[in-house]
Amino acid sequence: MQNNKRPETMERITTPALAQAFIAEQIAAIKAQVGDKKVLLALSGGVDSSVVAALLIRAIGKNLVCVHVNHGLLRKGEPEQVIQVFRHEMDANLIYVDAVDRFLDKLAGVAEPEQKRKIIGAEFIRVFEEEAHKQEGIQFLAQGTIYPDILESGPVKAHHNVGGLPEDLQFELVEPLKFLFKDEVRVVGHELGLPDNMVYRQPFPGPGLGVRCVGAITRDRLEAVRESDAILREEFAKAGLEGKVWQYFTIVPDFKTVGVKNNVRCFEWPVVLRAVNTRDAMTATVEDVPFALLQKITARITAEVPGVNRVLFDLTPKPTGTIEWE
Ligand code: XMP
Repeated sequence: MQNNKRPETMERITTPALAQAFIAEQIAAIKAQVGDKKVLLALSGGVDSSVVAALLIRAIGKNLVCVHVNHGLLRKGEPEQVIQVFRHEMDANLIYVDAVDRFLDKLAGVAEPEQKRKIIGAEFIRVFEEEAHKQEGIQFLAQGTIYPDILESGPVKAHHNVGGLPEDLQFELVEPLKFLFKDEVRVVGHELGLPDNMVYRQPFPGPGLGVRCVGAITRDRLEAVRESDAILREEFAKAGLEGKVWQYFTIVPDFKTVGVKNNVRCFEWPVVLRAVNTRDAMTATVEDVPFALLQKITARITAEVPGVNRVLFDLTPKPTGTIEWE
């Protein structure tokens, strides 16, 4: 029976020194648990899995086998950053799986949101399992479980992270962050040398851009989501809003409206901007984004993103709107 209660004596990790003490303690614990055996980790590039990876790399080096599955629904630059940070900078044993076609083929024509989520979750497990079976001598599975996952507080993680992991893989779990809250994970990640834009990044749903390409996903509309999201993030960062606004992203609905480009009428998609603040994702308020910034983002998206002729800003708090559009 695993102990899943945070020890009452455990001090809240708020300083670099406390984080360093936690890191030293966990490295010793991981070494004691794992010895010279191999550990497998699904590394999404999100905060939790990245911090687990960095910790295990310190503890056991190449005996950690990281698997990064690109399901085609990641934000612009994410797979590249995972490869850069973990393979090139941390010298990790990283397997990169390009599963983009597999996922997009399975999702073709599927418009129902929960069905899309199920397909993404199930396919993720299948791809991960295939990679696990290719590996010899794995005895442990590392997971970025954090304390709120154990407490199951609210909806954020209840449907979080693509699907969970394969049940038929008979591995012993390594969960070094399981008693930490998110802010503590970030302090630890920072101390482990992970880049700030990885450690302090906004929450990103497991099904990724899939829930923001409303209705049946098509490759061209998915690119419109990805490119407009990249522009929004870039402009928010330039305006000093990165790390200040809880979550901000773009949505592309599956309808077109008429517009005019270069004196020619065009029938293209709108892009919706969403920027919200919340404590626990149960309710949310809309960020008061400066109008001039919204205009600048609109000008860039309509000029730079193919197939888009209109930009809207979602003014709806939660309730009545959820944070995501599906
Ligand atoms: P909603 O849209 O329910 O979102 O207001 C609340 C928070 O949960 C995130 N979210 C998800 N995260 N898988 C996830 O891992 C999902 O399927 C999913 N749906 C919503 C959302 O981004 C927000 O932070």
